[in-house]
Amino acid sequence: MSLNERIESLKNKAAEFSIEKKENVEEFRLKFLSKKGELNDLFDAFKLLVGEEKRELGKQLNILKQSIEEKLNQAKEKFGSEKKFSADAVDLSLPVNAFSAGSLHPVSIVKNEILEIFEKIGFTVEYGPEIEDDWHNFTALNFAENHPARDMQDTFFVEKEPKGNYALRTHTSSVQVRLMENTKPPIRALMPGRVYRNEDVSARSNCFFHQVEGLYIDENVSFADLKQTLYYFVSQFFGERDIRFRPSYFPFTEPSAEMDIYLGMETEQDARLTKGTGWLEILGCGMVDPNVLKNCGIDPEKYSGFAFGMGIDRITMLKYGIKDIRQMFENDVRFLEQF
Ligand code: DAH
Repeated sequence: MSLNERIESLKNKAAEFSIEKKENVEEFRLKFLSKKGELNDLFDAFKLLVGEEKRELGKQLNILKQSIEEKLNQAKEKFGSEKKFSADAVDLSLPVNAFSAGSLHPVSIVKNEILEIFEKIGFTVEYGPEIEDDWHNFTALNFAENHPARDMQDTFFVEKEPKGNYALRTHTSSVQVRLMENTKPPIRALMPGRVYRNEDVSARSNCFFHQVEGLYIDENVSFADLKQTLYYFVSQFFGERDIRFRPSYFPFTEPSAEMDIYLGMETEQDARLTKGTGWLEILGCGMVDPNVLKNCGIDPEKYSGFAFGMGIDRITMLKYGIKDIRQMFENDVRFLEQF
């Protein structure tokens, strides 16, 4: 068959191809217009021609191509327009569905803010397990067996052998121990996490809450470094405020202190939070006890360090004026969507 005849025959075939339903549209396109379609074969043959013949047949081929494309477009319009009304069609005139994307929990917001402030001065972030053994939660931290200090914290013990050895950690100080055991000084880290205490639930205390622990171990670390670091934190988080250190006691630090910031008593809330003193305690701190360093395999002759621990929940309540700690853990969207 000459190319001329083949063009004629394809023209008839395309004209006779009946497009009766949606599926036929794609069949038609594949058969005639796709790369492997019949029209392409003719164009391949046409490329071999020369002169007048090439010009003449080129014209015919282009006319054929246009007519096939036209038939395809008409079919697309016909069957495509039906789609608008089918069950799975998208109705573009409907109002936007305002789905809720969720937001960070206020405790997470405050935690992130604290971590960022300390990251700027070179503190890394470390995590430890919430089910902790006696060694990491108490013994390594210088709580002697039967030491009365163990009564400072009412503990949720966990049924795991050996009995009495495992508990939900009562503070993030346990992560300090794990870090010192596994890392060579210098160590500069923040350790955030959830802690548990067997306490009566009230507006001010919950049976679980959140702490962030800080630890800095190196040669020649002094109490002055501790004060300066905490002063930096307060100025970043609360703005320029007075702070004060009161002597205190923790088994794992010596000397130990509690740090207060000055809120003043101008507002009723400040007066209530500070119990009429203007000062609010926000963290415990101290120089890591040499015994603790020894327990964790760090030479106390060579290294010293400071540690501190603060409750994130209380700071969150302070920041947002939340009056009842329980509100933060009820998962009430009306509360949560305010942050
Ligand atoms: N672990 C203490 C608590 O839960 C807080 C604390 C006090 C942590 C002094 C420290 C520290 O690292 O040095 O009450």
